[in-house]
Amino acid sequence: PLPPSFQVPLPVPEVLRPISTTGGVDRYAITQREATAEILPGVATPVWTYDGTFPGPTIESRRGRPVMVTHHNELPVPSVVHLHGGRTPAESDGYPTDLVLPVGWPDAGAHTDHPRRQGVQDAQGEQGAHGGHGMHDPRAVVTGVTRDYTFPMDQRATLLWYHDHRMDFTAPAIWRGLAGLHIVRDDVEDALGLPSGPRELPLMITDRAFSAGGRLDYPSLDPTLRDRPGVHEPFLAGVVGDVVLVNGAPWPVHEVDAVRYRLRILNASNARHYELELVDDAGRRLDLVQVGADQGLLAAPVVHRRLPVAPAERYDVVVDFSAVPVGNRVRLVNRVGTGRAAEVMAFRVVRRAADDSRVPGTLATDLPTWRRADAVRVRDLAFRAGRMNGGHGWLIDGLPFDPARTDVTTRLGDVEVWRLIADVHHPVHLHLVGFRLLSRGNGRPLAHDAGLKDTVSLRPGEGVEIITRFDGYRGRFLFHCHNAEHEDMGMMANLEIVWPCP
Ligand code: C2O
Ligand code: CU
Repeated sequence: PLPPSFQVPLPVPEVLRPISTTGGVDRYAITQREATAEILPGVATPVWTYDGTFPGPTIESRRGRPVMVTHHNELPVPSVVHLHGGRTPAESDGYPTDLVLPVGWPDAGAHTDHPRRQGVQDAQGEQGAHGGHGMHDPRAVVTGVTRDYTFPMDQRATLLWYHDHRMDFTAPAIWRGLAGLHIVRDDVEDALGLPSGPRELPLMITDRAFSAGGRLDYPSLDPTLRDRPGVHEPFLAGVVGDVVLVNGAPWPVHEVDAVRYRLRILNASNARHYELELVDDAGRRLDLVQVGADQGLLAAPVVHRRLPVAPAERYDVVVDFSAVPVGNRVRLVNRVGTGRAAEVMAFRVVRRAADDSRVPGTLATDLPTWRRADAVRVRDLAFRAGRMNGGHGWLIDGLPFDPARTDVTTRLGDVEVWRLIADVHHPVHLHLVGFRLLSRGNGRPLAHDAGLKDTVSLRPGEGVEIITRFDGYRGRFLFHCHNAEHEDMGMMANLEIVWPCP
C-alpha cells in the first residue's frame, strides 16, 4: 500500500549530541542495530540502522575540530564505516576488510581460520557465476565489537555522508538503512549569509523496493549477507526501487515560507540517477542556484534549470520560493524517472515572510587552481563490464577488486591527471581527495561539474579528465564506482599514497 505523493511530512534526521566535547575533540557513540521503521505509513519495516533510525543521526562538526565516533556493532554481520568525502587517515577510512565484528560473532580476534571465511572461498569455487572476491585479505584488521573512528575534519565545509563499506556487501547494507549525514561547517561559510536554520534542509534521496509484507526488497543471492555476495542476474546493472524516499520518507511534502531555502542534496541511492527540476503548479520551473559541490562551496553560483545527480554526488543549492503564490505547491521531479519514480517530493508555500538571506556573487576563494601543466603523471583508467570468477563483473582496467593488489601508487603531494573512460554510467569516487574536472567528452566540463568534487558521473561511452593533488595522508585508500552494485561486483581499486622521498 504505497501512500499518495506529497502527504507524508519530510523528516529531518536528528543531529547527534556528542557524549563529550572536552580536550578539543567531539566524541560520539553510535550503535549499529536492527530496528523497525515506519517508512510507509502504518507499515513496520525491518531496517539496519545507525542508532535506531534510517537515515542515521546527522553529525555536525566544525572545520579543524576533530571528531571521534565509537561504533558498536549489534548487527548480525560485520560492518565497516566510511565517511564519504572525509579527509580521513587510512586507519579510520573504513577499508572494506577493516571489520567491526558483531557482538557474539564466533571468533573475534581469530578470524584467519574462521570456518565462515572458509565458506566464502568454497562458495566462490562452486558458484563462480556471481561469486565475489571474498574476505580473503591476509591484512584484514578485525577490531572486535567496537571501533573508534577518528576524523580530523581538516577540510572544507560541506555535506558528507557515512555509510557501510564492507567487502562485497556494501550495496545491500546501505539498502537496508546504513547511511547517515555528516555536515562540516566553518566560519567562512557561516559569514556568507546563505539561508540557515529551518531554511537549510538536508535532502537524502534514495529509492527502495518493498515486499508485500513491507520488508525492504533486495535481490541478494544470500539474504543473510554473510557468505555469498552478489545479486540475481537481472540486477547486475544495479538495483533500483519504485519508491522514492527523501530522508527516509516516501514522496514527502515540506511546508515552506515564500523565501529562499538552502537544499543540501545527496543522492544516496544504490544505482538510480536523477535529473532534478523544481516545477510549480503553473508548470513554471524554478532556478536551482548551485552554491556548492561534493567538496564544498563553488567560486561563484551556477544557475541550473535541470540538475543531474548521480549516486553519492552532493549538490548544495539555493531555491527562491518568493515568487510562488501562497497555497501553491512546488514539486521536485526527476526527469529521468518513469511512473512515480519521476516524482521526488514537494514544497508547499504556506506564508510570506521576511528574508535576510543572500547568495553572494563570490562564494569561495580557496578553490585549488591545478592546471594540466602541474601534473607529474597522467593515468588512463577504464571502467567497464567484464568477466569475474567465470561470471559477470564490473572491472577497472580489466581487473576486479583485490585487497591484496596495489593498483595505483602515487606520492604524497603529487598532482595527477586521471583520464577516466566508461562503457555505461559509472559514478566514480575517490577517497581522501577532492578533484576538479578538466574535460568531459572532448569538450569542456558541464555546468554541474563545477567546483571541487569527490564523485564524478561518467556517462555511457564518455571520457572525463580529472585533476587532483594527493595530499593529506599516506596509506592505502580506494577509488571505485559508486553504483553500489558495481562496487560490490569488483569495480573498486587500491590507491597507495607513499612518502615522496624513497
Ligand atoms: Cu561513499 Cu568508498 O564510498
Ligand atoms: Cu559503475
